[in-house]
Amino acid sequence: MVTYSAPGKIFLFGEHAVVYGEPAIACAIDLRARVTVQKHSEVLITSELGKGKDKHPYVSKAIEKMGELTRFDGARVTIDSEIPVSSGLGSSAAVTIATLAALNEEFGVGLSKEKVAKLGYSVEKDVQGAASPTDTYVSTIGGVVLMPDGNRLRNLDCEIVVGNTGKISSTKTLVQQVRALRDRYPGVIQPIFHSIGNLAKKGEILVEKEDYSAIGELMNVNQGLLESLGVGCAELSTLIYAARGAGALGVKLTGAGGGGCMVALADKAHVERITSAIESVGGVAIKTKITEIGVRRE
Ligand code: MEV
Repeated sequence: MVTYSAPGKIFLFGEHAVVYGEPAIACAIDLRARVTVQKHSEVLITSELGKGKDKHPYVSKAIEKMGELTRFDGARVTIDSEIPVSSGLGSSAAVTIATLAALNEEFGVGLSKEKVAKLGYSVEKDVQGAASPTDTYVSTIGGVVLMPDGNRLRNLDCEIVVGNTGKISSTKTLVQQVRALRDRYPGVIQPIFHSIGNLAKKGEILVEKEDYSAIGELMNVNQGLLESLGVGCAELSTLIYAARGAGALGVKLTGAGGGGCMVALADKAHVERITSAIESVGGVAIKTKITEIGVRRE
């Protein structure tokens, strides 16, 4: 029996556009999914969502993919996660990566971290239809990561406040929705993807310079561009404006949008005010920080 954990993530810049090859910057955060795997005669998957393969499509797919690499009858898989599900914090990727890493050890497959990340990406693509490798890669290696290169950037010496709308959204549906918009108006939408990619490129320089007020300003620009792609919603805007009004350096949605979470970059002096502001308009605030620890054995 073995337990592995992997972190969730937020996007500083670049969700959706990254699916079309544009640069993005994502950061692993200090909320983790823990997965315990034990050899068993059949496949049994349990989490707070319930029991069974249907409730856990990512884990089922991960088991299926590992089964293509080595022969095993089954596994008892138990998931315990601090990451809110379907909320833009990379919960599925963290569970997928922790599951693959645990299966890898329990069945002695011998995959490297790179191979686990790649397999995790193929799981996400199969379950979601379209995906970038961002969530699975960042969850595997941790830290602040520039995609698609996979380069680690300097850690952010800054506070992160996440605000959860409590409205669940489907990454698959939102990615399909953005694709349909792009297909209807390629000449309009493609330049928006490109502008988002430019924000990530500029963001790489600003992260290295530790210029958090400029990063925040560009996060606000990124939010405007995400709105133009149709992935904002009233609940997210309420939390975003509350956090900005409380002095955040920059605020945007994180992940697929359509609900889920926003992320605020803040200096220490404003964290409590931002947290209260998010809660006063009905959101759930989570104070967190960037973690350099990717997938690890517990
Ligand atoms: C989801 O966390 C981020 C998206 O860009 C999809 C992906 O990158 O796979 C919307």
